[in-house]
Amino acid sequence: MSNYHVKTLEEYFQVYRKSVRNPELFWEEIAEEHFVWRKKWDTVLDYDFEKTEFKWFEGAKLNITENCIDRHLHIRGDKTAILFEPNNPKEEAQHISYKELHKRVCKFANVLKDHGIKKGDRVCIYLPMIPELAISVLACARIGAVHSVVFAGFSSTALATRINDCEAKMVITSDGSYRGAKTIDLKSIVDEALEDCPSIENVLVAKRINSDIQLKEGRDKWLAPLLEEAYQDCVPEIMDAEDPLFILYTSGSTGSPKGMLHTTAGYMVYTAYTFKNVFNYKENDVYWCTADIGWITGHSYIVYGPLANGATTVMFEGVPSYPDFGRFWEIVEKHNINQFYTAPTAIRALAKENLEFVDSHNLSSVKVLGTVGEPINEEAWHWYNDNVGKKKSPIVDTWWQTETGGIMISPLPYITPTKPTYATLPLPGIQIALMDENGKEVKGNQVDGRLCIKYPWPSMARTIWGNHQRYKETYFSAFDDMYFTGDGALRDEVGYYRITGRVDDVIIVSGHNLGTAPIEDAINEHPAVAESAIVGFPHEVKGNALYGYVILKETGEVRNQDNLRKEINQIITEHIGPIAKLDKIQFTEGVPKTRSGKIMRRILRKIAHNELDNLGDVSTLLNPEVVQNIIDNRL
Ligand code: WT7
Repeated sequence: MSNYHVKTLEEYFQVYRKSVRNPELFWEEIAEEHFVWRKKWDTVLDYDFEKTEFKWFEGAKLNITENCIDRHLHIRGDKTAILFEPNNPKEEAQHISYKELHKRVCKFANVLKDHGIKKGDRVCIYLPMIPELAISVLACARIGAVHSVVFAGFSSTALATRINDCEAKMVITSDGSYRGAKTIDLKSIVDEALEDCPSIENVLVAKRINSDIQLKEGRDKWLAPLLEEAYQDCVPEIMDAEDPLFILYTSGSTGSPKGMLHTTAGYMVYTAYTFKNVFNYKENDVYWCTADIGWITGHSYIVYGPLANGATTVMFEGVPSYPDFGRFWEIVEKHNINQFYTAPTAIRALAKENLEFVDSHNLSSVKVLGTVGEPINEEAWHWYNDNVGKKKSPIVDTWWQTETGGIMISPLPYITPTKPTYATLPLPGIQIALMDENGKEVKGNQVDGRLCIKYPWPSMARTIWGNHQRYKETYFSAFDDMYFTGDGALRDEVGYYRITGRVDDVIIVSGHNLGTAPIEDAINEHPAVAESAIVGFPHEVKGNALYGYVILKETGEVRNQDNLRKEINQIITEHIGPIAKLDKIQFTEGVPKTRSGKIMRRILRKIAHNELDNLGDVSTLLNPEVVQNIIDNRL
């Protein structure tokens, strides 16, 4: 029996039991056998829920890029590591071999060093899905710099907030990006952000769209000539197991974005292990995850997990709808994709189009389908299963979070019988608890509760950058001695888990995690707005869309409502990005509040969902009279 690759359901249960009985031995065996270490650890795990300190493989020394690149050079040097599929299907795909990747990462690492970047420095990467994105991530890891990738759909304000929070020294960006038929001027977004970012010393600019942009003297440099001149080997920085690898920002229900910090050894072991098992990855498979590297899915399952296994990982620059809705399936056919991993929102969008877009392509290479980011509804699950998987490829519905670093609950393909909308069983090493509101564990089957994890796992985020107190409060204060995910879940009669959604004020729109508070803060900046409240409501494609209740400073009839709506969405776009725009905006004289002044979102949520029969007792509200008015004017 191999711990590293589980092959039958019986073996899964055995491995799982072993991982619970002796977690340290379980992870130690995996770490021993499947990675290269400069020095092995002294202790496998050292943790303290009270202090919220978690240390895996302490004493070990390694560099993650040696595991993701160098060790493959002898056996698979000419194998494609990264397969780049451009936005425009007429542009040729690029096959970057492990040898080539090694050279390009080393050169990039040397350019970083030449610009004063040292171990521990933060580097902000704001790039579209082009090879330079994966290469710059790995180049940072090569020299021990901490990367902070910011999704290139975020606005200049959002970018500036993230740069300032971690005091990044450098930004890596491009002259622009392609997105379907559009081009986006990324560099000017960076310029705008940097008006307010004192820590930035240099900006390295990749050329992608050949636009005519201005470089700022002394600060900005074109990347290509620097890479051209750089030396093609770079000795990896030897890191401690718990040295920071990267920061990735995620929205909280309140306050500023949280810079989740992931460290080196545990993250590597866990993402590699889960990639191998959840996708049933075999040598020579071609694997494609459609996410952007700007999200955790891309970090763990486009870059680190696949490369640690010596896989071929596809990077797609474009969108599912360009040049038409058949693009995903055209790529699957063209590159003979074996594992295809995408989000429910993409599935729902494609399911609305003509089936011809799918049926005109040969998808017989597909062995495993995956989904991630939000609960998948039954209809979308069946569409995916019937039309893409032809009822032959198992769907792995993978539940996890930016904070967990890797997949936590998921079927193992060809092993765990799947069940639509169920993420099924925890992976080995993951100990789940469902908790009730009084802090008691809900045992047994056919129950629901708040989803918690009661034992540390190697890839858990170790802190929120610069704010350990907030880390403790957000994840470890709801229940004693366990991590609280913020999700609700139910466990069925056989012990399968179904994630029912967030139990806090985070709303998942098209798979993007959005906190209500930052959006409300943005809206409130509009000079005419006094106050606002955001809730989610069901949306056919996006899963959830945003409904805003807006109170204006001036009372009375609202003139120019449509203009105001546009302006509000414009402000949101500037502060956060277009993904956070509101689908519905209702102007109202007030929102229901508790006596202590807290907005009763539960009531607003029900009205937005059009569930009016069961609003609950409103009599204890500070202002019960507003409720009927909101109902009468609902959109
Ligand atoms: C939240 C985390 C993990 C990468 C992408 C999202 C929701 C994620 C599932 C799933 C139901 C899911 C949860 C979670 N979520 N996967 N398979 N089924 N819900 O990462 O932005 O950190 O969001 O996404 O609510 O808490 P993230």
